[in-house]
Amino acid sequence: MSATESRVSKGIILAGGSGTRMAPMTSGCNKQLLPVYDKPMVYYPLSALMLAGIQDVLLISSPEEIDRFSSLLGDGSQFGIQISYEVQPRPNGLAQAFVIGSSFIGDDNVALILGDNIFHGNDLATILQRAAANQEGATIFAYEVRDPERYGVIELDEFDNPIAIVEKPIDPQTNLAVPGIYFFDNRVVSIAQSLQPSARGEYEITDVIEHYLQDGTLSVQRFSRGMAWLDTGTPMALLQAGNFIAAIEQRQGLRICCPEEIALRMGFITAEQLAENTANMKSEYGAYLRSITKQFSNNSLAAS
Ligand code: DAU
Repeated sequence: MSATESRVSKGIILAGGSGTRMAPMTSGCNKQLLPVYDKPMVYYPLSALMLAGIQDVLLISSPEEIDRFSSLLGDGSQFGIQISYEVQPRPNGLAQAFVIGSSFIGDDNVALILGDNIFHGNDLATILQRAAANQEGATIFAYEVRDPERYGVIELDEFDNPIAIVEKPIDPQTNLAVPGIYFFDNRVVSIAQSLQPSARGEYEITDVIEHYLQDGTLSVQRFSRGMAWLDTGTPMALLQAGNFIAAIEQRQGLRICCPEEIALRMGFITAEQLAENTANMKSEYGAYLRSITKQFSNNSLAAS
């Protein structure tokens, strides 16, 4: 990165955790490897980073699970990106991502997405690319929910300027939850390094955000009601998320958060590369990828 460039070109997926809330589904398998309809959960946050234009990704997971992620995702070249891996010894909090990822981040700015967060909606790519385009300070999002006490909650003034952020408040002042995708400038590393654990013993992302709020460099963008931010935190929420994805995919014949398709449409890989990568994929997913490759090649030919 040059001294003046502030575009976020790196992203971290935090996909560890103990998964105790989802046992026994997660007793032998990391939560972020569970299927959400037709693909592993981690494909969804990976897709969001790719839609933001990010091609350099660090995936952090537990020592027991990290190899499963690397067998699933490899070095990322099939998606035209680079994926590297680091271990979080214990799930001591989301802010640890910046300490564990400090050499990956280097002097750059960085996005963080939680491995269990799913986003889908109109203009998502534009919204994320805008956040990634010129990152000074921090950009987070706000989304109206029925049960804010389960999330980080943000309070905004009449001009949508942030006033306060609280992690899982007992008595939330607003119903605006903070979704698990965040864009930070490079100061996030030193901020995370200086944090103390919270009362529940975790290095909280909310405390990182609080630093930016205090120094006046926190920007909050509202996701509109047309955006889906899906929860996967309980068996029922996971089923509902899968049903939501299935309903839209069945209706449109298009796949949601399909990293291979995003790679093609973002220009990270060519149609020839995708055709080669999918030639032996026997699943319906493989057939879908072949059909969009064909469509894409025909359209490109027609446009040339
Ligand atoms: O989903 C958005 C919410 O995510 C935010 O509104 C909250 O401010 C934020 O703290 C977080 O709350 P959660 O209660 O959902 O966090 P949870 O502990 O469930 O962790 C989210 C994901 O990150 C989960 O897939 C496991 C993973 N994780 C979690 C911790 C604490 C790790 O990989 N390492 C960790 O140390």
